[in-house]
Amino acid sequence: MLKNDLKSFEEKAGEEIKEARDLSSLDKIFQEYVGKKGEINKIFKGFGGLKESEKKEIGKRANLIKARIEEMVVQKRKDIKKSVEKIESEKEKIDVTRPGKKIKTGHLHPLTIIQREVGEIFQSLGFSIISGSEVESEWYNFDALNVPRDHPSRDMQDTFWIKREKSNDPKKNLLLRSQTSAVQVRYMEKNNPPLRIIVPGRCFRHEATDASHEIQFYQCEGLMVDRDISVANFKAIIQEFLKIFFKKEVKVRVRPSYFPFTEPSFELDINCQNCGGKGCNLCGNSGWIEVMGAGMVHPNVFKKAGYNSKDWQGFAFGVGLDRLAMLKYKINDIRLFYSNDLRFLEQF
Ligand code: PHE
Repeated sequence: MLKNDLKSFEEKAGEEIKEARDLSSLDKIFQEYVGKKGEINKIFKGFGGLKESEKKEIGKRANLIKARIEEMVVQKRKDIKKSVEKIESEKEKIDVTRPGKKIKTGHLHPLTIIQREVGEIFQSLGFSIISGSEVESEWYNFDALNVPRDHPSRDMQDTFWIKREKSNDPKKNLLLRSQTSAVQVRYMEKNNPPLRIIVPGRCFRHEATDASHEIQFYQCEGLMVDRDISVANFKAIIQEFLKIFFKKEVKVRVRPSYFPFTEPSFELDINCQNCGGKGCNLCGNSGWIEVMGAGMVHPNVFKKAGYNSKDWQGFAFGVGLDRLAMLKYKINDIRLFYSNDLRFLEQF
């Protein structure tokens, strides 16, 4: 009977060892069969009623089986260790075929995109891109541009002045430029005609904000000076610019206006890109949208720059870049450009 027990122990232990998945369950099996309180030892303990010859034979067999079980455990332990190592090294392996994690890349602000586009188009028409500074003197922003001393746009209402004692010399009074036109005389003082420049940049006005007004906005100044420049040149250049910019023929309308630094002065409208000219709330049902102020450079401005106004003629314009961006992307509130709302910005 004991003989049979031993045989079945060996088989049972063998099965269990085979099934063991980890070292701790293997340990348990080891204790169960060959440990101090294990099945084999129980057999030795139950030797009491046996004959000497039986004791010898069964003892021998039990020791043999014990050794075999031990051997199986040792082997299995090695196997488990090996397979654990294999799994670990599998984990560390780099699978170069797995799809990578997407990295969020930055992108340009819509106004930067528009500014660059406008710059490229004018460059293709022979204009150079010039930059000015956002802090300007009263002189270049107003006096050099023939803006009368008592003109309301110089008022606190409109202009952000840099805090310091007001001087009688307008070159010493500083402000945040209210228009890129401030660069006109700055540039002409240092460069001889003929010339074609654009000046994109930020301007500031102390205004109440609403869907179409911001205290900061982007303009692009244009200035072309040569011996024989007329309104026809201006219209041709602007029409070409708008065609490239909107990727289609754009109708323009020139209306008389007033700026101290141009004579004659006008405002240029384009047919509303939103409704095609039929009338919608973007264009106030007129079918037209104003995009720039412009005119022929005033002789007084040439004089301030040191040019002989009898020899030179030119046109100047100031186009609102925010306005162009709003038309191109169909955005109905200028404040979106400056509110840093990622839900808005991520669309570009
Ligand atoms: N500086 C004018 C404005 O901001 C626009 C303009 C520029 C008009 C050049 C005429 C010539 O409204």
